[in-house]
Amino acid sequence: MFLFLVVISLLLIDGAVCELDEEDDDTQFALLYLRHYHYLSPETSSNTNTTEAIENFQKFFGLTVTGELDDDTMYEMKKPRCGDPDVDTDGLRLKRYATVGRQWSNTTLTYSFSPGADMKNKDQLRIIARAFKYWSDAAPKLTFTRTNNFNKSDIRISFGKLTHSGVPGERQCPYDFDGQGGVIAHAYYPTEGRIHFDDDEHYTEFGGSVVGWWWNKRQTRGLLYTAVHEIGHALGLKHSDVKDAVMWPLAKNGNPKLDQDDIDGIISLYG
Ligand SMILES: *[C@@H]1O[C@H](CO)[C@@H](O)[C@H](O)[C@H]1NC(C)=O
Ligand SMILES: *[C@@H]1O[C@H](CO)[C@@H](O)[C@H](O)[C@H]1NC(C)=O
Ligand SMILES: *[C@@H]1O[C@H](CO)[C@@H](O)[C@H](O)[C@H]1NC(C)=O
Repeated sequence: MFLFLVVISLLLIDGAVCELDEEDDDTQFALLYLRHYHYLSPETSSNTNTTEAIENFQKFFGLTVTGELDDDTMYEMKKPRCGDPDVDTDGLRLKRYATVGRQWSNTTLTYSFSPGADMKNKDQLRIIARAFKYWSDAAPKLTFTRTNNFNKSDIRISFGKLTHSGVPGERQCPYDFDGQGGVIAHAYYPTEGRIHFDDDEHYTEFGGSVVGWWWNKRQTRGLLYTAVHEIGHALGLKHSDVKDAVMWPLAKNGNPKLDQDDIDGIISLYG
């Protein structure tokens, strides 16, 4: 009983300390977030105003535009998502797919895959092949063939934790992962072709909560959905502010369905 009381009171003290720091922590977190996703950018004179950056984030995510780090804004920022930027040097763009202005010079592409820890390799290979098919169905000139030659493949898909590299032989990635939650995957635009999944996440084909040993539930990420999204980046699509688009920045589960916005985007590149 005594031990129980001590534990409880420690928790209370801890709680009180957290309360005081929470606002500062949130502001720090939000500033890093706005910088990471290029709402604030030291490289462009147009993206240096924090209020405007918060407003642009709120516009992109369809929130009430207050220019302040209110509860809704902080809640949205803490959701799991893709690590690629939302805004680029050309500023905020709304209601239209976006491309990076770079694409593969031909449509016959190869990919290699180095599997993650959560599923059987053959299931992962099947899921990745299916993810590519979404894009080749939308833009039939595109074909994707898997190869085991990591050095010679155009698109290279791998899993890693925290400081990571990629498929065997690939150099270290400058964008560290962040453990479970937050960033779940990221990809490079053409013609770099690197796609990395955060292996601190738990992946299943369709994501969602799964019941494990002793009926404990745990949240998993949808490998299929995330792969379709990241392949979109590797082909030259940027984030879309259309909520139903596969290129929407936040993590989604289930069966992906390309939105007209995604289709218009891929057709504009490889139609
Ligand atoms: C920053 O942006 C806000 C909102 O758009 C604007 O009202 C304010 O004047 C801007 N501040 C500066 C220094 O440009
Ligand atoms: C297509 O382009 C990629 C990258 O530019 C290259 O690796 C690949 O060999 C090319 N394929 C053909 C058939 O030209
Ligand atoms: C791929 O590249 C790595 C690093 O450059 C090298 O060590 C390896 O031998 C290469 N593998 C093949 C099959 O060429």
